[in-house]
Amino acid sequence: MTAETVLHNARIVLADEIVEGSLVLRDGFIAGIEAGSSRSGEDMGGDYIIPGLVELHTDHLEGHYAPRPKVRWNPIAAVLAHDAQVATAGITTVLDALRVGMDEDADLTSTDIRKLADAIEDSVQQDRLRADHFIHLRCEVSAPDCLRAFANFDGDERVKLASLMDHAPGQRQFVNLETYAYYYQRKLKLTDRDFKLFCEKRMGESAVNSGPNRVHIAAACHERGIVLASHDDATIGHVGEAIEQGVRVAEFPTTEEAARASKEAGLGVLMGAPNVMRGASHSGNVSARTLASDGLLDILSSDYIPFSLIQSAFFLGDVVEGISLPQAVAMVSKNPADAVGLTDRGVIEQGRRADLVRVRVDDHVPVVRTVWRQGRRVA
Ligand SMILES: [Fe+2]
Repeated sequence: MTAETVLHNARIVLADEIVEGSLVLRDGFIAGIEAGSSRSGEDMGGDYIIPGLVELHTDHLEGHYAPRPKVRWNPIAAVLAHDAQVATAGITTVLDALRVGMDEDADLTSTDIRKLADAIEDSVQQDRLRADHFIHLRCEVSAPDCLRAFANFDGDERVKLASLMDHAPGQRQFVNLETYAYYYQRKLKLTDRDFKLFCEKRMGESAVNSGPNRVHIAAACHERGIVLASHDDATIGHVGEAIEQGVRVAEFPTTEEAARASKEAGLGVLMGAPNVMRGASHSGNVSARTLASDGLLDILSSDYIPFSLIQSAFFLGDVVEGISLPQAVAMVSKNPADAVGLTDRGVIEQGRRADLVRVRVDDHVPVVRTVWRQGRRVA
């Protein structure tokens, strides 16, 4: 039996235009788009229908599992709470970022991380989840335990993306040592002397581990069909290294120079949606709005605020001239989906998955009213 749903009286955001009319869903897929049609069905009241959002980098799951230092929550409950939050923010496909290689920012162990990955897998198998979940391994290549933790994911087919990060002082996100001190000296409550020793230790680890770990992980990912992302690239040299290692996504480049070189090399340039909303990077690096206005931005990610993804899609066109709503929406749907090879979704067209979001914009805030994944209502 075929199950058909018609959503009528909608403003449907297609890849390059907005059409007023109806959307026909059949068996979990988009069966038709009809402009101005008078078909009966569910009345969308003139609301927007956009493709379900595709999120490549959310750090948000860990906080549900470790809500306070030393507190660990049931991992399945943590996954369910995270899933509910991303789905109600219009995200129908999410790559949960899990770290591999612990730096001083981490309160979790590699055993905790594997528990979370198992809870995701089990929840997918048991059909507990609203969004479609995959894994993004954030690999801290400077950490001595990076490869050991990476091996916990051998053969794990839920891993779609791996990013190569180096958060040692003096590197990339923390070229500026003052920013590094602001982040870590205060967080770790170190005296000036201890902080200096700590920096030396981290820089030493980076010098020894980062090069070999990058090479190892890049080779393993190519073999397994996992897409590679660079992280916080700052210089032309960083981008050159990324290209050489087969990186396809430049995640959070910290300078316009690195973003431009990445774009010219055909990499997808990803920036944080919170950066778009705030008008600045939280660690003082290049602004996502600047990159967008220079045509250097392809993908947005919610990073640490799930709801920021849909907010940025409806906000970017207002603050950056020359960016239309369909273009901004593509940055949170089609472009991230394409970047990780999920070509069955990410855009409203016949034959794609019926992953959809009904949105009304109230006072510049997008209100998510209904979310469908494969034609099934999930939020
Ligand atoms: Fe970073």
